[in-house]
Amino acid sequence: MKIRTLIGAGAIGLASIAAAYAHGGATGIVKERMDAMGAMGDIVKSLSAMMRGETAYDANAVRDGAETIRRHAGEALTGLFPEGSGGEPSEARAEIWSNWDEFAAMAAQLETLAEGLGRAADNGLMHGGGQPVPGGMMGGSSGMMGGGSGMMGGGTSMMGSANTMMGGTAPMMGRGGGFDAAALAAMPADGVFNMVAQSCSACHTKFRLEKN
Ligand code: HEC
Repeated sequence: MKIRTLIGAGAIGLASIAAAYAHGGATGIVKERMDAMGAMGDIVKSLSAMMRGETAYDANAVRDGAETIRRHAGEALTGLFPEGSGGEPSEARAEIWSNWDEFAAMAAQLETLAEGLGRAADNGLMHGGGQPVPGGMMGGSSGMMGGGSGMMGGGTSMMGSANTMMGGTAPMMGRGGGFDAAALAAMPADGVFNMVAQSCSACHTKFRLEKN
């Protein structure tokens, strides 16, 4: 027990030292965007524990987190990347400015996805809080719309249609194609959350330097 606490405290200490180095003494707008990204990072971290069922699902926390991400996305995000603001200690790639339209499109996509996540917050998780899915449920033989227990009650009827939607939207991710916040609003929250997280990584892969 004591040892665990000590190790925990040590790990937190190391993590904050690492974070301080990662910022590399950034100032001005570079620090501002690192802080904004860091705020989104904290949200994604805490929501992903919730989406995996490790912490209790809290629709208000999902809505609040989604709203904060939405406010940091789109033009709020691109506005923190004025031309010439790359180079040490920033991890921004020069491709941001040579490929601005794509960068801006990815920032806009995050805004739409975050809006969708806020609207999907009340839908809860696809598997009802990370419970194992009993065999056969995914097959949908029980009738997608059956049950009549309403959206919140019966997981089964929602799952059928949610799966179909996931299958339909996932391939769109690759093309960065148009998302519709209304369609996202009908998905399970964890499905939309995964798309949000993918949207973060997609932009980092393309426009952020490897951190070693
Ligand atoms: C449109 C592109 C884009 C999107 C979308 C994006 N990021 Fe970033 N992110 C960047 C770039 C570029 C940097 C490097 C900034 C710098 O060092 O100047 C960065 C840096 C970061 C950092 C490191 C900050 C630091 O302290 O150095 C974190 C954490 C982060 N992003 C989290 C996220 C999360 C979480 C999301 C999604 C909710 C997200 N980002 C979405 C482009 C993006």
